[in-house]
Amino acid sequence: MIEKQQILEKLEKVIYPGFTKSVVDFGFVKSVEITEERLSIRLDIPSPAKEIEEQLREEIIKRLSFLGEFQIDLTITKPAMPRETSSKGKNILPEIQNFVMVSSGKGGVGKSTTTVNLAIALAQQGKRVGLLDADIYGPNIPRMMGIEAEQPVFLGRNIKPIMAHGVQVMSIGSLVERGASLIWKGAMVTQAIEQMLEDILWNKLDILLFDMPPGTGDAQLALAQNLPVTAGVCVTTPQKVALDDTIRSMDMFTQLHIPIAGIVENMSGFICPDSGKEYDIFGKGTTQPLADAYHTEILGEIPIEPAIREGGDSGLPITVLAPECETSKRYQQIASKLWEKVLEINEEGGVSNEEIQPTIF
Ligand SMILES: Nc1ncnc2c1ncn2[C@@H]1O[C@H](COP(=O)(O)OP(=O)(O)OP(=O)(O)O)[C@@H](O)[C@H]1O
Ligand SMILES: [Mg+2]
Repeated sequence: MIEKQQILEKLEKVIYPGFTKSVVDFGFVKSVEITEERLSIRLDIPSPAKEIEEQLREEIIKRLSFLGEFQIDLTITKPAMPRETSSKGKNILPEIQNFVMVSSGKGGVGKSTTTVNLAIALAQQGKRVGLLDADIYGPNIPRMMGIEAEQPVFLGRNIKPIMAHGVQVMSIGSLVERGASLIWKGAMVTQAIEQMLEDILWNKLDILLFDMPPGTGDAQLALAQNLPVTAGVCVTTPQKVALDDTIRSMDMFTQLHIPIAGIVENMSGFICPDSGKEYDIFGKGTTQPLADAYHTEILGEIPIEPAIREGGDSGLPITVLAPECETSKRYQQIASKLWEKVLEINEEGGVSNEEIQPTIF
């Protein structure tokens, strides 16, 4: 007799395409039933893409080949339609026009720094901007925005965002004790994200930026399942070893049907303050082919600059401290381009990622 545990162990090895976790870890396996005649498995997946279903089907059958001739009924249910986008679909936070997810495959590439400076640049351009720190594993936004010491105001079970540098900010870091180690399991992450979305009292916003944890995991999936994410921005660094991680991040957007607004190349060269000479510390030439392959563009390049790091550490980001410097101007340009892209995506009723083949490298 086959044991259910045996089957689950096999399914635990089936990684959801574009992510690093298995269909079991994500909670996509809804039932496993075994009778004398057959094994019935039901999966409920979030992607409407046919390729994903096919890839999963193939992988699962392969993993269960040890069952020989035993009858296997594998049902994979998926949403019938591509996810609705904010321009045409329902929005559980109707006071917010656009949602932009800032992600990267790799940690430490400068997502939070980029998100903070883009949020401030957009606010400086007159947009009503929100910034939600969804990095439950390492929330850095309070420090970067200089609001570490501030306590958010609670109204009943709701929380008011904190205003900083013209941006409405909320972070899971403001809600937990500083330094408390955050060890989250899959379902807790989903729950925490959903709770945050429900409980925060945003004012009217043109755009809400999400600073995501690194990689492709529960937080990304939870957001995509709960909100019509307008666009994704991928932050990367130019060295070749970052490429595979960036591809994973782009694949994730594709598979979640989130239109890709573009790529920000961070730590792109170093301009020596003494000589003005530019050095390509992390190399060059990896980002453009990637942008081409995913039918998107490089929104801009940000050099390595000590003032960027100092801005993050001190709570006075470079766009606030030195709005006229070259780097702040670059953030301004990226913000303008991002806004144009968001408008374009809305006009088109959501860009289709249908023709993009995931993992093309
Ligand atoms: N262009 C830059 N020049 C100099 N320092 C930078 C630059 N971008 C980021 N940094 C610094 O690098 C460190 C990592 O950046 P940041 O925290 O923004 O990365 P992250 O991708 O959000 O990391 P994590 O994956 O841990 O969330 C920070 O100390 C930040 O100040
Ligand atoms: Mg971060």
